[in-house]
Amino acid sequence: MNPILLAEAVKSVGTPAYVYDLDAIRDGVRALKAAFGTERHHIAYAVKANSAAEIVRTIAREGAGADVVSGAELGLSLACGIAAERIVYSGVAKRDDELDRAISSGTDGIGAIQVESVEEIARIEARAAFMGWKARVSLRINPGVELEDLSTHAHIATGHDEAKFGVPITDVSRALAALSRAPHLVLVGLTAHGGSQFTTTAPYVASAKALFALAREVLKTHKLDYVDAGGGFGIDYGDGCEATPADFVRAALEEKKAHGLDALALYVEPGRALVGSHGVLVGRIIQQKVVSDRRWVMLDTGMNDLMRPALYGAKHRIELADRAHQGDRAWRVVGPVCESSDDFGEHALGENPEGLVAIRDAGAYGYSMASRYNGRALPAEVFVSEGKVIAARARDDDEAWIKDRLAAGR
Ligand code: LLP
Repeated sequence: MNPILLAEAVKSVGTPAYVYDLDAIRDGVRALKAAFGTERHHIAYAVKANSAAEIVRTIAREGAGADVVSGAELGLSLACGIAAERIVYSGVAKRDDELDRAISSGTDGIGAIQVESVEEIARIEARAAFMGWKARVSLRINPGVELEDLSTHAHIATGHDEAKFGVPITDVSRALAALSRAPHLVLVGLTAHGGSQFTTTAPYVASAKALFALAREVLKTHKLDYVDAGGGFGIDYGDGCEATPADFVRAALEEKKAHGLDALALYVEPGRALVGSHGVLVGRIIQQKVVSDRRWVMLDTGMNDLMRPALYGAKHRIELADRAHQGDRAWRVVGPVCESSDDFGEHALGENPEGLVAIRDAGAYGYSMASRYNGRALPAEVFVSEGKVIAARARDDDEAWIKDRLAAGR
């Protein structure tokens, strides 16, 4: 999005504000779909990446379903028009009321509840039996790839032995035995999610290989409709990203074929790759601070709006959004929050940076992870299509926070 448009977009809502390009998001889903060719597939958008209804609806209109991790995300996806059977539900600790919602959504329950442990099977069976319904389930396995081979930040690597996610391959026979004692559950698929922000296809393929090899074994005794290779397609945050979403899909399709699984559909669960590059966090420079040769630029937006730098040491590109840079003098860009980790790193903003800044590639895990820490209002959101603002959500205000904190008064 060009700077003029960004400045225009935040005019009515002020800053901090996330600005999203809905057309680019739509085009990304189309490109991903095209990569499947005629192969039977399903794109389950990982709603956790960005749950704004405008975005979920844009993605759903292109035929995608959803991967959700809570009853709330499930309810939201349904409210955005995604059919229940197009939704899969992951999560290591789903509450009974969340399971009930999944089992009873639509006419026939959701597409699949993704079982994350042997222990969970009896719990889902009990809820389905209680409701007198059959529930479709998929076994989310832990592919057991070495952490090192997942080549991503440890906090977002999930497909290794130490992670709490999924049924370890060594436990799959125990899970199948538990399923055979669960008359209200129907096994429809096998799932794996190795981690997030992969910049090459290698870790994705490593996880998919473990999944597909297991599917071959399971097919000897059970029927399956699909294999789900999860999300994790990376984006370019400035250091490059070798693989495109289509590359991940093609690599997984090739492996699936090599494992003789042509009869099964391929599911994928991308979050970041569909939205990350198409959202910008716009903030305003409150002031500069110069102490001898140290130079800070202080913003009205910080780690409460975009946690990724504080949480994963992530670096997002930052530019002035409403004026030209004069020179390339570097400034330490920091937020207003009282934490040293409220720091976006060093950026070349020129001689006298003022006005608006654009923090790029903030469309995924930005607003969805924002908090009201330090009594800060949640940021605004602006949705752009064909160069125009078509919808906007105002910023929370300080009074809303004060009211919330006073709410439990005697
Ligand atoms: N499926 C499952 C089961 C997941 O756990 C995740 C992400 C996804 C799909 C989507 O992954 P993606 O395609 O977006 O990589 N907050 C972190 C990322 C956490 C990802 C958690 N799980 C960040 O800002 O980098």
